[in-house]
Amino acid sequence: MAKDPVRVLVTGAAGQIGYALVPMIARGVMLGSDQPVILHMLDIPPAAEALNGVKMELVDAAFPLLKGVVATTDVVEACTGVNIAVMVGGFPRKEGMERKDVMSKNVSIYKSQASALESHAAPNCKVLVVANPANTNALILKEFAPSIPAKNITCLTRLDHNRALGQISERLNVQVSDIKNVIIWGNHSSTQYPDVSHATVKTSSGEKSARELVSDDEWLKGEFITTVQQRGAAIIKARKLSSALSAASSACDHIRDWVLGTPEGTWVSMGVYSDGSYNVPAGLIYSFPVACKDGEWTIVQGLSIDEFSRKKLDATAEELTEEKALAYSCLS
Ligand code: NAD
Ligand code: LMR
Repeated sequence: MAKDPVRVLVTGAAGQIGYALVPMIARGVMLGSDQPVILHMLDIPPAAEALNGVKMELVDAAFPLLKGVVATTDVVEACTGVNIAVMVGGFPRKEGMERKDVMSKNVSIYKSQASALESHAAPNCKVLVVANPANTNALILKEFAPSIPAKNITCLTRLDHNRALGQISERLNVQVSDIKNVIIWGNHSSTQYPDVSHATVKTSSGEKSARELVSDDEWLKGEFITTVQQRGAAIIKARKLSSALSAASSACDHIRDWVLGTPEGTWVSMGVYSDGSYNVPAGLIYSFPVACKDGEWTIVQGLSIDEFSRKKLDATAEELTEEKALAYSCLS
């Protein structure tokens, strides 16, 4: 029997990530090739005409799974009945801007959209915040939508996770699909900690530690980390625009794994509400290794953290604590 359609909201849908993301969702990349969807697309009035153009293209593409499109500048209409909300709307960082520069513009958007989601989304709506500062926007959304369970509000660090896979794959000349269990800890920013301490690679002679295969700790503790941390800025420098196709694809990965689950013994990175695991302060949205089952994520417990990693986990937590204070000062 055909499944009922799932309603997926994309805010900022007329922007560049939105333009890459909506066809992926309509093709089943996010929720599976047997899952019909109804797309809700929100943007602001100056982008209304462009948004309508995106709607026209979705009609023209004749996606078999796409059962309806709501394209609107009305936040209540956009949020009504949605099962999944991908929050991309906001202002991107431009060349030379620090992430903190986009903070004041974006956190106030997340405060106001929190109420609309809380009042109008379907019960148990899953929320993914992509717009920067992603962790802190997600935290603000959580705090101003107190009736949405904290476990339903997440932010995107899967792009960083995928970037880490990409770097290891290039370095070892192996397929990304043969690498598993890298971790992004902390903030989606240049303080994030890409960690390969527990990552493994499938080889013809069995599963091997990524660290042993790379066998160059200087690179792993230096250039590898900074390349992943700075990749967003490098893309902005090259394209004069921030990453879009990789962000859209990673957003699909995030929701797909959350909804459909991660394979036994593997994990992915998601920005989630900290419960104090790994001595990360509770009450931040922090990227952890998570395993997903039956539509729920859980933080993978018991991984060893050496002294080098501990410092990195703490530094990115400290930045998030500062961002939280700054966000509140922008809202007051
Ligand atoms: P963009 O400027 O191309 O698109 C953003 C869209 O949001 C625009 O169409 C704009 O009109 C719309 N918008 C602005 N205010 C809005 C509001 N209040 N409600 C609804 N829509 C609104 O930007 P982009 O390149 O698509 O990037 C979007 C965001 O994603 C940026 O904040 C960017 O920094 C962030 N980003 C995050 C990641 C990540 O991994 N977390 C990766 C790439 C980009
Ligand atoms: C990215 O990681 O590509 C984006 O978050 C862009 C940015 O501002 O770094």
